[in-house]
Amino acid sequence: MDLGLNGKTALVTGAGSGIGRAVALAFAAEGANVVLTDLKQEGMDETLRLMRQAGSGEGATLIADAGSPEDHQRAVDLAVERFGGLHAACNNAGIGGETNPVADLSPEGFRKVIEVNLLGVFYGMHAQIPAMLRGEGGAIVNIASILGQVGWENSSPYVSSKHGVVGLTRSAALEYAQKGVRVNAVGPGFIQTPILGQDQAALDHLASLHPMGRMGQPEEIANLVVFLCSPRASLMIGGYYPADGGYLAK
Ligand SMILES: NC(=O)c1ccc[n+]([C@@H]2O[C@H](COP(=O)([O-])OP(=O)(O)OC[C@H]3O[C@@H](n4cnc5c(N)ncnc54)[C@H](O)[C@@H]3O)[C@@H](O)[C@H]2O)c1
Repeated sequence: MDLGLNGKTALVTGAGSGIGRAVALAFAAEGANVVLTDLKQEGMDETLRLMRQAGSGEGATLIADAGSPEDHQRAVDLAVERFGGLHAACNNAGIGGETNPVADLSPEGFRKVIEVNLLGVFYGMHAQIPAMLRGEGGAIVNIASILGQVGWENSSPYVSSKHGVVGLTRSAALEYAQKGVRVNAVGPGFIQTPILGQDQAALDHLASLHPMGRMGQPEEIANLVVFLCSPRASLMIGGYYPADGGYLAK
């Protein structure tokens, strides 16, 4: 199925690892040009190398902090200057952050997670939407989590940030529903990426929590993101779309 993204421009935050890398590769496979942002250059270089190996769309990288409004603006400016506009964005950069019961959490730890995971999505859309409105419109997918719908012990900063992403997504979708910018959220179950650490017993336990009996792969999230950003998803706005091996169906 041709998703109609050939020659369009997409922006992906946190594109140097895991889900962000898979999203960038999936956009590129559709022939889209991709602006990659992340905190460090190395991961983005590897994503770019994989994009080129696949012989797909063009890429450009920018070191950018998701917690910085100015960095998001620089990323959008790069998309416009290098590729002539912005049609799709995936606000994906995120951290797990401090894990503790509420009474033991440091305020700084809580604030840091909100800054990257929630404010980062706001700053992203704040810069991306005007560029899309100036052009031919566009679509945004914000990466939430199953933990944007249910709780998880000792991770209240992360859970709060992801619930916030879902609410932010719904509100933004309503605001631009008639203006040509579609906004949706995707809710991954546990996905095999570096964010989960390397403790095999813990990873096996996480896998067992999913009715399918396994964790997801980054590509299984990327497929959904790219579809939602494509004209094929023209009626879809304000949604929370899980891709979670049945986690939330329990
Ligand atoms: N892996 C999972 O189980 C899972 C489940 C649900 C949701 N998610 C969400 O998916 C997104 C991607 O996570 P992942 O699993 O690919 O993790 P990952 O750690 O593999 O990748 C995250 C990327 O974001 C970057 N990043 C972190 N802080 C940043 C900042 N301040 N500015 C810019 N970039 C920053 C990191 O450098 C890294 O390249 C996150 O928002 C995460 O919360 C992951």
